[in-house]
Amino acid sequence: MKIAIISDIHSNIEALHAVLRKIDKEKVDVIVNLGDIVGYNASPDECVTEIRKCEAISVSGNHDSAVHDLTARESFNVFANQAIRWSHFKLSKENKDFLKKLPLLAIVWDRFIACHGTLKSNDSYIVKPFQARRMFNIMRKEYQRINICFFGHTHRQAVWSRDVRGKVKQLKLNENPIHLNPEEMYLINPGSVGQPRQNDWRASFLTFEPEEAKITFYSVPYDLYKAQQKILKAELPSFLAERLAEGV
Ligand SMILES: [Fe+2]
Repeated sequence: MKIAIISDIHSNIEALHAVLRKIDKEKVDVIVNLGDIVGYNASPDECVTEIRKCEAISVSGNHDSAVHDLTARESFNVFANQAIRWSHFKLSKENKDFLKKLPLLAIVWDRFIACHGTLKSNDSYIVKPFQARRMFNIMRKEYQRINICFFGHTHRQAVWSRDVRGKVKQLKLNENPIHLNPEEMYLINPGSVGQPRQNDWRASFLTFEPEEAKITFYSVPYDLYKAQQKILKAELPSFLAERLAEGV
């Protein structure tokens, strides 16, 4: 069994198509999408349609919520706000309804959890050890049989582990693939498909092979110029096009 974990597509259909081509080559059985299909970039409706077509198991990101919930936009910066208002008018009713119905988290085959930000909110981050520790504590208390949770929202690849003695650390990611220890707990972020923020413009995702307890990160080139031109043509902030090239 091979599972592709993708996140933070953010209306970048060029990046999504490149990732789906790679997923196809890797002979993946199922796709899990950790949310934020829309926001920032210029192809929201195309991205939601594509995700529905490939029947990905999906959870809701904060941008997905913000399309239909004005209060969810209060934490957005000016660029994010402008893009999400624009997206609201570009999405078909069916695709907006699809986003509205997405759950905040999914427990997949009783083996792992998928969420966007944290287990409690799609707009909270896991970037510091105390935040990872808090998540592991929630997992131990509320999801005892599960030792892996995939999350997104930061747009950066990350693996946090908790060993049997309770020590929490962030792995260095200088190995790929990474073999997971079945006795430890993990919080794993695949990075972002459509707006990576790790100083690498390429679309990021990972595959998970549960039988081998193995994850593999991928960085995929895509038609960046085309994605940027669409943003400018839509008269979205030009900064949103510039940042794609920098990976910030
Ligand atoms: Fe995001």
